[in-house]
Parts: sequence; C-alpha cells; structure tokens
Amino acid sequence: MTFGVEHRVVEKRNLADKIHLFKVVAPLVARRAKPGQFVIVRSHERAERIPLTIADSDPDNGTISLVVQEMGRGTAKIAEIGEGGKFAGIVGPLGRAGNIASVNKVVLIAGGVGVAPMLPYARAYHSSGAHVTTIVGAKTRDMLILLDEIESVSDVVMVSTDDGSLGVKGVVSDVLARLLADGERFDHAVCIGPAVMMKAVCGLTREAGIPTTVSLNPIMVDGTGMCGGCRVTVGGEIKFACVDGPGFDGHAVDFDELMSRQRFYEREERLSYDSYRTSKEGSHRCRLDQIG
Ligand SMILES: Cc1cc2nc3c(=O)[nH]c(=O)nc-3n(C[C@H](O)[C@H](O)[C@H](O)COP(=O)(O)OP(=O)(O)OC[C@H]3O[C@@H](n4cnc5c(N)ncnc54)[C@H](O)[C@@H]3O)c2cc1C
Ligand code: FES
Repeated sequence: MTFGVEHRVVEKRNLADKIHLFKVVAPLVARRAKPGQFVIVRSHERAERIPLTIADSDPDNGTISLVVQEMGRGTAKIAEIGEGGKFAGIVGPLGRAGNIASVNKVVLIAGGVGVAPMLPYARAYHSSGAHVTTIVGAKTRDMLILLDEIESVSDVVMVSTDDGSLGVKGVVSDVLARLLADGERFDHAVCIGPAVMMKAVCGLTREAGIPTTVSLNPIMVDGTGMCGGCRVTVGGEIKFACVDGPGFDGHAVDFDELMSRQRFYEREERLSYDSYRTSKEGSHRCRLDQIG
C-alpha cells in the first residue's frame, strides 16, 4: 500500500493514439512488484478505481510505469494527468505474481496494449536464459507500442497488423498458427490481450499441447477479493481474478463467460463516456462530470 505518498508523474509519453505511458512515484509498489501484478489507481479523489498492470518498476528511483489506453471515462480522466501532475491514489501491488516456468523455449503473444504487461514476462524469461519468441499485434503499425523494449528482451520478434501496414497482415493467432504448422515447438506460452484473442491462441496451444498462461482482465472493483466483481470460471471452479490471478491456465478458462461479464455495463459505460466527451467539447458541465 502507498498511504501518504504523493504519486507524482515524473514522465509521460504518448506511445500511440490514446495510449500513454506514465512513470509515477510509488516507492513501496516499485520495491515489491513482480511480473503479472497490477495496481488500482484513482486519477483524483472521487474518481473510479481503475486496475492497471505494472509494466515496469524501478526500485532505486521509487517509480513504476503504467501504460493506459483510453477506453472510456475513467481512463480518459487518467489521460488528462500531465507530467508533473499526480494520481490521487495508487494501491498495490495486487494479484499473484506470474509463475515464470523453467523452460528452454517460450512463446509470448501480446495484442494491443497487452504488450505493456507482457514486458515484465519477457524480461523475466530472457534473464532466466530461455529462448524467447515474442509475437506482437495491433490494428495498424501506428498502434504498435514498446517494440524496441520488446526486441531488447526477445530472441525473435514477429509482428502482425490487421491492415498489413507492418509484418504479417492478420492477427497474432495467425502468426502462431503458421509457426506451429512450420514445425516450431515451444515448452510454454504466455498470452495477454483482448479475451477473444486469448481464446483463439489457447485453441491453438491446446491442440499443440503447449501449456499456456493467460492474464485475465474482468471488471474489477476493490481488487482484494471482497466484491466478487472479477469472478471468472477456471477448470469449472469460481475464482476471483484479483486475488487468485490475474494469471491462469488458459486451457481451463471459460472465455465466453468472461466476455459476457465484460459487456455487463456496456450501455452505462457508453453513456458515461459520451457525457464526458460532450462536456469536454462544450461549456456544458454535466452532473456526472462533477462527481468524477
Ligand atoms: C488486472 C487488470 C489489468 C489491466 N491492465 C491494464 C493496463 O495495463 N492498461 C490498460 O490500458 N488497461 C488495463 N486494464 C483494463 C482497464 O482497467 C480498463 O480499460 C478500464 O478500467 C476501463 O475504464 P474506463 O472507465 O475508461 O472505461 P469504461 O467505459 O468503463 O469501460 C471500457 C471497457 O473496460 C472494461 N472495464 C470497465 N471498468 C473496468 C474495471 N473497473 N476493471 C476492469 N475493466 C473494466 C469494460 O468491461 C469495457 O470493456 C486492466 C484490467 C485488469 C482487470
Ligand atoms: S475485484 Fe472485487 S473480488 Fe476481485
């Protein structure tokens, strides 16, 4: 926990359209963070609590790096914080540390903003001596993030874009399918990205007999196992992703249930984001905006 600490933003970088990297002061989190763990942040006192993966930590300087994609009202409010500004609250590290399997060859598959949470896994596998193949994907080349950082800790990097503007035209699971069809074999896989992407990758790795870790992103509220908001089904059992995960055996996850629960508040989320944007564009200050 980080009570009493001022969470100042010491660096802010735009990685792509609506994707920002924040380096933030959070010394206790920086000291204890492990790959796969996350924090829950508040942009200001009365703001929504937003879970974000710890993309990097620097215990010497007492900072952590967070990569935030603007998806709705909560993340748009975070995007408003500038260099020198501060977060009202950061709680963590939360969740279980990812298990870095002792293997010779690992394949890491990351889509969109999932590249950021994959970086600590890539670093950990690279320093364990494993041969690391990383497949990263995005809609277009402009949306690919942290490619240099991923290259520095991978033996092989393969890229896919939906529109073919860089690398293979298609999605990350197409690249993996081709590698497996060409006879490539891996001892372990880690996959982080949208649920639909993780489901497709797990279909391939199950068939190829490759144990696969996924990082789940259900809606979270308290992040401490108390509210049940992040309930997921893994191997027929109910788990709370915030305390039992977020990393799980991908072959045992009920992805259809996860996707349906992620859509639970779709209408309210859209209305809230629309009202936020309307109030930003005009002089109108709506009541929702006044409460954060
Ligand atoms: C463990 C974990 C780690 C995450 N790491 C990152 C990260 O490093 N970078 C990043 O950009 N995003 C990350 N996310 C997703 C991020 O938390 C959501 O995009 C954010 O909460 C959306 O809030 P919003 O108000 O901007 O959007 P909304 O308009 O409220 O929702 C947009 C989408 O986000 C989902 N969402 C809404 N509220 C939450 C919530 N409280 N918890 C989780 N999902 C929610 C909705 O299901 C919807 O699909 C992570 C989520 C989890 C659970
Ligand atoms: S977020 Fe409340 S139980 Fe996990």
